Amino acid sequence: MNKLAEDLNRTLENTSAAALLSDYGKRLYVPKGIIVQSAEAKQKAKKYNATIGIATEGGKPMYIKPIRDAFSAELTDSEIFPYAPMGGVAALRAAWLEQMKLKNPLLAAKETSLPVVTSGLTSSISIVASLFLDKGDDVVMPDLYWENYNLILTEQRQAKINFYPFFSDKGGFNVEGLKAVLQGIKAPKAFVFLNFPNNPTGYAPTAAEADEIAAVLVEQAAKGKKIVVLCDDAYFGLFFDDKVFRQSMFARLADAHENILAVKGDAATKEEMVWGFRVGFITYGCKGYTAAQYDALVQKTMGALRGSLSSCSLPSQNAILKAFASPEYEQSKQQGIEKIRLRFEALKQELAKHASDDCLTPLPFNSGYFMAFGCRCDAEQLRQLLLNKYETGVIRLDDSHIRLAFSSIDLEKIPALVNTVYQAAAELS
Ligand SMILES: Cc1ncc(COP(=O)(O)O)c(C=O)c1O
Repeated sequence: MNKLAEDLNRTLENTSAAALLSDYGKRLYVPKGIIVQSAEAKQKAKKYNATIGIATEGGKPMYIKPIRDAFSAELTDSEIFPYAPMGGVAALRAAWLEQMKLKNPLLAAKETSLPVVTSGLTSSISIVASLFLDKGDDVVMPDLYWENYNLILTEQRQAKINFYPFFSDKGGFNVEGLKAVLQGIKAPKAFVFLNFPNNPTGYAPTAAEADEIAAVLVEQAAKGKKIVVLCDDAYFGLFFDDKVFRQSMFARLADAHENILAVKGDAATKEEMVWGFRVGFITYGCKGYTAAQYDALVQKTMGALRGSLSSCSLPSQNAILKAFASPEYEQSKQQGIEKIRLRFEALKQELAKHASDDCLTPLPFNSGYFMAFGCRCDAEQLRQLLLNKYETGVIRLDDSHIRLAFSSIDLEKIPALVNTVYQAAAELS
């Protein structure tokens, strides 16, 4: 059991709650990771706060103007107040699927389910996990991942996590690592996580790596293993490097093999810059599935939603839908992405100036909101020094890695942020 859960249980010892908590309740705790470190940075990181997992500008959230307009003026009473329909607003589900196909040309001719609306991508992941994971089932994922997976996979589902190192020795995605771990699973089924662009590394596969990943999965599927592949596409569309594969792995896998059930977990959260709206989606794709079979999966998913969230936010769904119809929409969205891309470029340039500085090693990154450093010093000491002496907030990932969110650092502050982080690391090396 996690130590934080044990501490809470100790505080509750001899109370009625201690006797009443379920096994799951006993395992629960609030992680000390990103949320707590971000709260600390909010207080102390007056100069640079690179902990925030949203896109900001001048300290305020970025947004796509037509969404702001729709949310403030255009919605009618019946688009705001009633319950949302089961599975989500039909027109939004259809629009999301249509856009998914436009953004992923490989999907154009492939059959998929209709997306089901969830309350953000966290709930998509949690619902998919509840549908496909029993206690002790094997999950395959890299060692650098979004920390919230722990609560869902370990505490909620009690799955067995099989890690492989995210990067290969050559510095790309570790396809061989994925293959070795998947091959080693004795059970007839496995649950594979693919999160690209990745949190916390900001890495997405190249086109060649995407092919290799698909080949590894198909090879195992052909041997009879049944595989759920959950593509966590939280940062989809934020691709900043020419070599990166600019489609979802879902598009590659949706008809790859009868034994591969591909699931696309995505959300308006980051793609449409509406972090607090809580609108996510679940879409299924598998070779040979009939429309009735997709519908059966959608109904099971709606059942899981009904028994947990009941219903998702109606005004949020309608605001997004209205904004999609605006002729300004795409341009306004691309302006936001371009701002983040310019920060990515500036960050690369600044890091290049420190190439010979070995107190920090930038991990490869080409997309998303984040980049991560390997540290020669203790990562928590570095975080504390940055916070307390330099008023700079970063996230400690583990003993030897920190994460920077360039999504929340204005372009002109990037050089000074990089210098500050290197200076603090040099002090501790
Ligand atoms: C990799 C990854 N997946 C899922 C999520 C959850 O997104 P949402 O806010 O839509 O629940 C996040 C949010 O930070 C994330 O980084």
